[in-house]
Amino acid sequence: MTAILRAEGISVVHRTRSGPLHAVTDVSLSLHPGRTLALVGESGSGKSSIARAILHLPPPTAGTVSLDGTDLAELSARELRRLRPRIQMVFQDPVSSLNPRRRVRDIVAEPLDAHSRTAAAPDRDARVAELLDAVGLPARQFADRKPAQLSGGQAQRVAIARALAADPQVLIADEAVSALDVSAQATVLNLLRTLTDELGLAGLFISHDLGAVRAVGDDLAVLYLGRLCEEGPTEEVLAAPAHPYTAALLAAVPEPGRALGDTRPAAADPPSPLDPPSGCRFRTRCPLATERCADEQPAAKPVSADRTVACHHPLALA
Ligand SMILES: Nc1ncnc2c1ncn2[C@@H]1O[C@H](COP(=O)(O)OP(=O)(O)O)[C@@H](O)[C@H]1O
Ligand code: SF4
Ligand SMILES: [Mg+2]
Repeated sequence: MTAILRAEGISVVHRTRSGPLHAVTDVSLSLHPGRTLALVGESGSGKSSIARAILHLPPPTAGTVSLDGTDLAELSARELRRLRPRIQMVFQDPVSSLNPRRRVRDIVAEPLDAHSRTAAAPDRDARVAELLDAVGLPARQFADRKPAQLSGGQAQRVAIARALAADPQVLIADEAVSALDVSAQATVLNLLRTLTDELGLAGLFISHDLGAVRAVGDDLAVLYLGRLCEEGPTEEVLAAPAHPYTAALLAAVPEPGRALGDTRPAAADPPSPLDPPSGCRFRTRCPLATERCADEQPAAKPVSADRTVACHHPLALA
C-alpha cells in the first residue's frame, strides 16, 4: 500500500536559552489512506513537535516530509500555503480553537469561504449541513449555536467538521480527546475511526494515553524522549510489546486480569531532552538495561514482517 504522507528521518531541535533542545530525533512515519496511526508517548516526548514538523510549521531541522510524493521542502512558500489545508489538525482544547463570536455554520464554512470553492449560499448551507451530519450534529439543532452553547465533545465535533470542510487527505488529531469526559471521548474516538474508514483519510492520532489508542489506531508508534521505540499493528504490539518502554506503558494502563510481566512502570521522571542519556534514551528507567545500552543507541530493527523495535534486548514476541 502506498503512503499518502511520509516523514523520513525527521529531527526537530528547538533553540532554548539553555541551548539546543532535541525534541525529535530521526523519526520516520508513514500514513496510509483509510488507516490511522496512533502516536503515543508521555508529555514532552515530542509528539506535537512531530505534528508541526509534518505541516512544516516550521519545517523539521533535518529529514523530509512528503505528501503524495511531493517533498514539502521543494515547494515555494505560496505552494506550501496552498497544499497545507490537505493536512488538517484537530487540537486538545476544542472550545478555544473555535471563535466564540461566530455561529457553528460559519465556523464550519471557514475553509469553504477561504478557498471560495462554493460561492453560492445554498451550496454553502448544504455542504455545512452535510458536514455537521457527518459528525453527528444535526444542522437544524446546531448550525446557529455559538461555541459557548456546545459541550466539549460537541465543540470537538464542530472542529472536526471544519477540518473536513477543507477536504483533507490527512487528519492529525493532537490529544483531541484528552480534555473530554469519558463518554465524549468514546464518541469522538468512534467518529475519528468512522471518518478515516469511510472517507479514506489517513489519520495520525496523537495521545499520551495508551488506553485511548486501542479504539482508533490501526497501527501504533511509541515515542520516548523524541525517538521511536517500536512500531507495528496496534493489536499485535499491545498483545506482545517488544520494547520495555511499551511494556511499562501497557502495565500502567488499568485493565483487570492482565499480568504485568517482569517490567514495571518506571517510577522516575523522564530525563530532560536538553541532556538525554547516552546510548538508549530509555536506559535510566529500563529494568533490562545493560552496559551496551549506555554505549550504543539501538537502531530500529524488524522483529516480524510488519513490526520494528529499537532495543538491544527486545522482549520475546508471544
Ligand atoms: N517552541 C519550543 N521552544 C522550545 N522548546 C520546545 C518548544 N516546543 C516544544 N518544546 C520542548 O520540546 C519537547 C517536546 O515537546 P512537544 O513536542 O510539545 O511534546 P509533546 O507534544 O509530546 O508533549 C519538550 O521538552 C518541550 O518542552
Ligand atoms: S536498549 Fe537497553 S535500555 Fe534501551 S529499552 Fe532496550 S534493554 Fe532497555
Ligand atoms: Mg503535545
